[in-house]
Amino acid sequence: MIEDMIRNTFSRLITGQRRIALKAVVPSENDLKNKIEDLAEIGIYLHIPFCDRICPYCPYNKEVFHSDLVKHYTSAVKREIDSYTRMVGKMPVTSFYIGGGTPTSMLHSGIEDLIIYIYDHFNMQCDIHMESHPSHLSDDNLDTLQAMGVSNLSIGVESLQDHHLKVLKRPYTTAEVRKIVERVVNRNFDCVNVDFMFALPNQTYDEVEQAGRILVDMGVDQVAAYPLFKFPYTKMGSDGLESAFNLSTLIRRRKMLGILEDIFYNADFRRSSVWAFTKRGVPKYCSVTVPLYIGLGASGGTYLKDIFYLNTFSAKEYINSLENDKMAIALSLDLTKEVQMAGWLYWRIYETKIDKREFDDRFGVNFDQVYGKYMQILAHLGFLNDDGKQIHLTDRGSYWMHAFEDLFSIDYISTLWGTSKQNPWPEEVIL
Ligand SMILES: C[S@@+](CC[C@H](N)C(=O)[O-])C[C@H]1O[C@@H](n2cnc3c(N)ncnc32)[C@H](O)[C@@H]1O
Ligand code: SF4
Repeated sequence: MIEDMIRNTFSRLITGQRRIALKAVVPSENDLKNKIEDLAEIGIYLHIPFCDRICPYCPYNKEVFHSDLVKHYTSAVKREIDSYTRMVGKMPVTSFYIGGGTPTSMLHSGIEDLIIYIYDHFNMQCDIHMESHPSHLSDDNLDTLQAMGVSNLSIGVESLQDHHLKVLKRPYTTAEVRKIVERVVNRNFDCVNVDFMFALPNQTYDEVEQAGRILVDMGVDQVAAYPLFKFPYTKMGSDGLESAFNLSTLIRRRKMLGILEDIFYNADFRRSSVWAFTKRGVPKYCSVTVPLYIGLGASGGTYLKDIFYLNTFSAKEYINSLENDKMAIALSLDLTKEVQMAGWLYWRIYETKIDKREFDDRFGVNFDQVYGKYMQILAHLGFLNDDGKQIHLTDRGSYWMHAFEDLFSIDYISTLWGTSKQNPWPEEVIL
């Protein structure tokens, strides 16, 4: 298939590897300690794989909330924290993100306990960014969240038209979710992000425009706007959503994204990542912000210098492993220097800004020598501006990054997450 051909060519060009294989190889605690030892700082990601109900489009690792399982999960995460405490010691933790699933599903059943445990065991020098579901954001629950120290909150709004909310099987109406968001906005969080999906089945341009205006009127600090991606292993993905790689989809998404860009730029938002628009002067809401991080919980991913590894996706297996004093690592990948550099570049493009000095310092090689010729081609195509020191992605570049995401990341994620969901301990996953 043409998509495979393009993917393989790009993969080879950027990483020097045709295919990447994650293997069931578990690094020793000592190995990990050595890798962590000389870092200056580290981030923590905590995964909460529980939701009240399962949405038909959602690719994330999650299962329906059961209080008994959640109790054991909380204890298992504490055991995992204990292992990492031995490796991390007093190193500053400068970024902390709680994602899911739905972290607020554990609001009254363990999340506070875990946050306290993390702040007691690590040298935390950062605030908390957390994802939430609109149905959990009553006044009382917001009091609880703020008392726990959550200062940056993301809300999965997804759509602002009732018929689309119905198709997505979201359990609220537009009127209800607007009230909820307004309640949160009046709460003095440092940043309130709203997740919003566009290019939904049969969605019109007028509907996207109407939703964009409502988002701005509600006074949120940031909007993360994703086109609805098709993950083959989800209910909606297998029901045949439109393919990202046909011309009419590309044109439709481009136009919808353009409508949103106009609305957000006119309301004094700036682009803060390929997907996100943040009000000027507000710190952006985002996942772990430092390049190297530890992933706690089922499906938590850890990136330490020259290794990336993933915990088992099954909450039950995760609990079993930790109860038996074993790490819950299912798959790992040793990263060659080329892959590390390509990973770095991917994330900087994702953030729409590349600082060449950072690359030179981190890898001890000159950015332009490695990627200069590709950047020149992209600059000619109008995808980016290069002032010699920094590179900034243009709106055109961001759009094509969207398309590129569909070609690479969504496919890689589908393979990795789809396989890991089916088999808690795969022997190997080839991307
Ligand atoms: C973990 S969920 C957000 C928190 C919470 N679980 C909720 O649903 O409200 C992360 C976000 O990913 C986005 N997302 C999920 N599935 C998607 C898909 N198939 N295509 C595009 N975005 C998707 C949604 O915007 C969703 O809010
Ligand atoms: S979109 Fe959110 S609530 Fe729905 S299944 Fe995914 S993580 Fe759970």
